[in-house]
Amino acid sequence: MNFEFTEEQQMIRQAARDYAERELVKDVLERDEKAEIPWKHIKALKELGFFGMMVAPEWGGGGMDTLSYVLSLEEFSKHDSATAVILSVHNSLVSWGVEKYGTQEQKEKYLRVLATGEKIGAFLLSEPEAGSDATHQRTTGEDKGDHFLINGTKNWITNAECADIYIVVVQTHPEKKHHGINALIVDKNTPGISLAPHEDKMGMRSSDTHSVMFSDVKVPKENRIGDDGFGFKFAMKALEGGRIGIAAQALGIAAGAMERAIQYSKERKAFGKFIHDHQAIAFKLADMGVKLEAARNLTYKAAWLKDNGLSYGTMSAMAKLFAADSAMEITTEAVQVYGGYGYVKEYHVERLMREAKLTQIYEGTSEIQKIVISRALLKD
Ligand code: CAA
Repeated sequence: MNFEFTEEQQMIRQAARDYAERELVKDVLERDEKAEIPWKHIKALKELGFFGMMVAPEWGGGGMDTLSYVLSLEEFSKHDSATAVILSVHNSLVSWGVEKYGTQEQKEKYLRVLATGEKIGAFLLSEPEAGSDATHQRTTGEDKGDHFLINGTKNWITNAECADIYIVVVQTHPEKKHHGINALIVDKNTPGISLAPHEDKMGMRSSDTHSVMFSDVKVPKENRIGDDGFGFKFAMKALEGGRIGIAAQALGIAAGAMERAIQYSKERKAFGKFIHDHQAIAFKLADMGVKLEAARNLTYKAAWLKDNGLSYGTMSAMAKLFAADSAMEITTEAVQVYGGYGYVKEYHVERLMREAKLTQIYEGTSEIQKIVISRALLKD
């Protein structure tokens, strides 16, 4: 096994680290407070090539591998995971989906602009009554001959406001249940689409999350991804890669909290010595380090499997489950290391703890990952 990064992977990681340390961290507390979309950073990250970074160069992307993408998300998330999730949904759910399953025409029209970041993507699967239970789609995409007519509501949509291109999962043939589901590429400015107000979230507050309503929205037939009825499988496939992105995000949140806790333990004295000289703190740091490294290995392995054309769905669920749960534990312990200071905003660890919680919920809760993993184990 080779655990070394290539020169290119190291360079990309360094570029992401530099941007996060120099720019993202400067205004992250203010953006978290105001729940403002990080437009300035979105623009800069487009210019640096992080949008569409995995898309093939022939479509205008960076042609980078999944591991480079994971390393970037990890670095961004140490300081600002709300910006990281904008990139994650755009790259691993939307751009990947169009590149992998789109027609030549769809790629010309949509992938090129996704690859440069000229347009941002959002993935609309969840519904008021179809979150974990994704087969029960109520949003309809009626087949009207030359177009689909969408009616319904999607919930918890990351990038709903900042995106221009939506992939919308709809039910076309209810009698066929999940085999009647389709995934459609939809321009956000199509008449009949409206957004509910930005959700006032506990964490990742500057990543915009909305419900999106569809009322007689006409979508050309050629915007369907794959064959009729492929939509549910498409969504599941996209989520396999999406979960690697969320695992990387959880990893970054955990690493950000641990690095801060280590630094603080070298500055803060109690009972006449630095707090890391007390075993109560030193052992916490050791536990954090082990969990972080285990999560890192699972996440990098999932990325490696994907990069090598091997099956990665189970490993991505394992990585997401373990990284998210570890991020929750590590950030909670980091707050404890800081004591009272950890409970105020200025020191970032309380924000990281709020952010960690979301990684246990979106792109499938920890419980959903356990369903995916246990089914795979039982199948063998
Ligand atoms: N790849 C291909 N096909 C798959 C698949 C995969 N990974 N997983 C399931 N399928 C197929 C099955 O083979 C089956 O096909 P057949 O009927 O033809 O045999 C079909 O899909 C249905 O599968 P199941 O019977 O396993 O379905 P289920 O309802 O029992 O469970 C689930 C599926 C794993 C629970 C799934 O519904 C799931 O992952 N739910 C969570 C959804 C989720 O993650 N939502 C997050 C929203 S996106 C988001 O959060 C983005 C964001 O904004 C940040």
